[in-house]
Amino acid sequence: VSSPARHAAIVTTLRSAGCVFAEDEAALLIDAATSPADLDEMVARRASGLPLEQVLGWAEFCGLRIMIAPGVFVPRRRTELLVREAAALAGPGAAVLDLCCGSGAVGAAIAATIAGIELYAVDIDPACAECARDNIAVFGEVFEGDLYEPLPATLRGRLDVITANAPYVPSEEIRNMPPEARDHEPRVALDGGADGLDVQRRIAEAAQHWLAPGGHLLIETAKLQQSLTANAMTSNGLRATTVRLEETDATVVIGSLS
Ligand SMILES: C[S@@+](CC[C@H](N)C(=O)[O-])C[C@H]1O[C@@H](n2cnc3c(N)ncnc32)[C@H](O)[C@@H]1O
Repeated sequence: VSSPARHAAIVTTLRSAGCVFAEDEAALLIDAATSPADLDEMVARRASGLPLEQVLGWAEFCGLRIMIAPGVFVPRRRTELLVREAAALAGPGAAVLDLCCGSGAVGAAIAATIAGIELYAVDIDPACAECARDNIAVFGEVFEGDLYEPLPATLRGRLDVITANAPYVPSEEIRNMPPEARDHEPRVALDGGADGLDVQRRIAEAAQHWLAPGGHLLIETAKLQQSLTANAMTSNGLRATTVRLEETDATVVIGSLS
């Protein structure tokens, strides 16, 4: 759907809109478009600031192609550390819960790494729950609701691993985020309250009722908030350790139940 001249014009449009990787993005948009009109529309949406992944309808995460519906949080590279640590703790057949699942990327990647896990995922946003169903229906079950609230009581005390990349940006800092996130990802996906810990604390408070003996809760957090996240775990009966990967600026706190 594109000539070399059209390709060059798209690169210029994207570059003037502030896209740093304009060449790569142009190639992806040209590849994805089904007609010249479709391409024009995609370029216009991207130039208006919509995240590339929401325009394409997919994101790459842990080597998988994850479908991204409009308004659904785009999985970040830093979250691959959460998957790596969770997969290291989840043996075959483990029962795994991904809270605040968004597109379902974390659960899908764990299930793709460890065969035969029993996977559950929850998100409060109906658009995310639906998107996660598209991405993980083959691996497990998605519930819509507030944290543990929609889960069947039969899962209490049975989960080997709980993962959460919950919202953790302090409310006052959302305005300093890149426009792609600030303007195009829902506030419920980002806002962690005054100190960023509102949702993480609620996750840690109830974890001991849902984890199996020896089970683990893994929460992605910010470097500056890691001690607050660890405190939320230790004050709720979990032993906390922190894993840090500088390369992607990723921090995961792991709380383990004895
Ligand atoms: C930072 S995004 C992460 C999404 C996904 N885990 C990922 O890494 O791509 C946080 C997600 O938490 C969801 N969320 C926020 N509050 C929630 C709550 N109380 N219960 C369940 N999900 C919630 C949002 O809808 C959003 O999809």
